[in-house]
Amino acid sequence: MLRILTSAVVGAAVLLAFGLPVQAQDAVRVGLILPLTGPFAPTGRQIEAGVRLYMQQHGATVADKKIELIVKDDANVADNTKRIAQEFVVNERVNVLAGFGLTPLALATAPIATEAKVPLVVMGAATAIIPDRSPYIVRTSQVTSQTTVGIADWAPKNGIKRVVTLVSDYAPGIDIEKSFTDRFKAAGGEIIEQIRVPLANPDFAPFLQRVGDAKPEGLFVFVPAGVGSIFMKQFVERGLDKSGIRLIGTGDMTDDDILNGIGDVALGITTSHHYSALHPSDLNKKFVADFKKGFNLRPNFMGVAGYDGMQLIYKALEKTKGIATGDALLEAMKGMAWESPRGPISIDPQTRDIVQNIYVRKVERVDGELYNVEFQTFEAVKKP
Ligand code: PHB
Repeated sequence: MLRILTSAVVGAAVLLAFGLPVQAQDAVRVGLILPLTGPFAPTGRQIEAGVRLYMQQHGATVADKKIELIVKDDANVADNTKRIAQEFVVNERVNVLAGFGLTPLALATAPIATEAKVPLVVMGAATAIIPDRSPYIVRTSQVTSQTTVGIADWAPKNGIKRVVTLVSDYAPGIDIEKSFTDRFKAAGGEIIEQIRVPLANPDFAPFLQRVGDAKPEGLFVFVPAGVGSIFMKQFVERGLDKSGIRLIGTGDMTDDDILNGIGDVALGITTSHHYSALHPSDLNKKFVADFKKGFNLRPNFMGVAGYDGMQLIYKALEKTKGIATGDALLEAMKGMAWESPRGPISIDPQTRDIVQNIYVRKVERVDGELYNVEFQTFEAVKKP
């Protein structure tokens, strides 16, 4: 007895000495890790705003549990993401890890989710294999091979048959290059050149020179959220906006956060993607208005993925009636379906990946602002 008491006292002393927090029974802790500084800070800002907006709209208590959000910046450095996740799990005893703006950050952290048996909700990264890296990963953002579906079908039917592809040279870019190429060729298109551009500090000029020389009917582009402005600036500087080459891509290039800043040269760019700030639903109108009011930002697809990621955590907790063990939450998340500002979505219970509509959209000016105007829908697209 004395021995048990002693070890309990020592245990408590160790806890105090190392400053480990004593957990309130009724709190559920969510550790959100995002790039909030550096070149991808806009991605982190959007996701954080989405998460906070959901909490503001729905209150910070679910199934009698108080939700505690802890946010940390990884500056888009994978070693940071991993270290923060470790600290979150060991010191903060988080129930859920969330965030992960880019693929390398999610991949680096996957083993920690497995080891700790903590759900890891991916709100940004898009590379297809990510959920295969841990049975605790669930995704609310997008899958690379999903977002090329609409544009690969649309382009050859609309006079764009000879195409050059240009992608950021890292995992999601390579995925997208392949999925677009396969589907575009099957739909009757021809790829005349494939170009990969470094992700960090991209200088598109020499690559755009090659595009100009190849004289394609269309240029298919994938760059991650935020990078579209730099790409478009150099596209114009090279005079390619006057070359007759039509721009197509995934909607990452014309993300709603930067589209007005790109200006009229974006008019007519046709892309496929899962979210437009102009998506015509009452739910989305309210989402966009609240997002602008609360955070002075127009939401893009990262913002909506953060919002739905938090929504998934809330809905899972409701379903488990507040039981917040990793396995209980994960089981509750599988197969969950709900109405998002982007349209109907669900979590595939087999792959733990998002199933969502993919829309084909064209940039137009509406009420004085630039938007991706949706005109065709591919329903409930799963990871192919
Ligand atoms: C990714 O790194 O997986 C990623 C990031 C931003 C995007 C798309 C993919 O827009």
